[in-house]
Amino acid sequence: MSGTGMTGAQPLGRPTIRVEELESTNDLARLLAAAGLPEGTAVVASRQTRGRGRFGRAWVSPHGGLWCSILLRPVAASGWGRLSLAMAVAVAEAIDQAAGVRSRIRWPNDILVAGRKVAGVLLEGAAEAVVVGVGINANNATDTMPAALRTMAGSLRELAGRTVSLEALFEILLARGAGWYEIWAQGGPEVIDAWSARDATRGTRVAVDTPAGRLAGVADGVDGDGALRIVLEGGEVRRVLAGDLYPTGRAAEQEAPR
Ligand code: BTN
Repeated sequence: MSGTGMTGAQPLGRPTIRVEELESTNDLARLLAAAGLPEGTAVVASRQTRGRGRFGRAWVSPHGGLWCSILLRPVAASGWGRLSLAMAVAVAEAIDQAAGVRSRIRWPNDILVAGRKVAGVLLEGAAEAVVVGVGINANNATDTMPAALRTMAGSLRELAGRTVSLEALFEILLARGAGWYEIWAQGGPEVIDAWSARDATRGTRVAVDTPAGRLAGVADGVDGDGALRIVLEGGEVRRVLAGDLYPTGRAAEQEAPR
């Protein structure tokens, strides 16, 4: 992996189970986790009929996108917040390499290209395992999405101006995912550093819906646990471990989460 000095990561995607259509790759991966399949097992679907995103939102998953889930069995917990950020970095790097773009990340793990959300990551616990669900709008058209998503979402084909090989995108994702998973397990600062280099909102006005209510202020990056720092009106700094971030600056209507 470039820039990290990391070597020897265990491969992901062995086995890879390919399905034409299913409800959600995360659901199948969770079943496979319970059935004892090994770490690295991946599920890829051409189409999901009940794809889901964070906070139970529907995730539109037609033909043309990359919809997949990877089963991990971490030996030692090294911070779930940081794992979520590590996987976002892996997805961002895969997108950049496969599509020739420069992506950024909106906390915790929305991947943006030119301010449009092109990918998301959904981590779910499952039978002593973690399922990492990744959805990438690769070649699917966003004009078929519900109106509420159309102005916020983008696809790589639309933004990069060329069709992206789903096979290449998936292979790079597996390689980057393996690398960042290993780096995450070692517990060093690299995950936060790499994530911060792609931070889309640092220094901008945001609102965050948290389990304890809505906070509004200026985003100030993430701390060593992967928590978002937000500077409230009056200067108080709050840490947010889980929540939904909305830009409230000038481009807010283009950058709100899908
Ligand atoms: C988000 O809300 O940003 C996360 C979206 C994650 C979508 C992917 S698509 C593959 C996997 N299966 C699902 O049902 N969801 C994830």
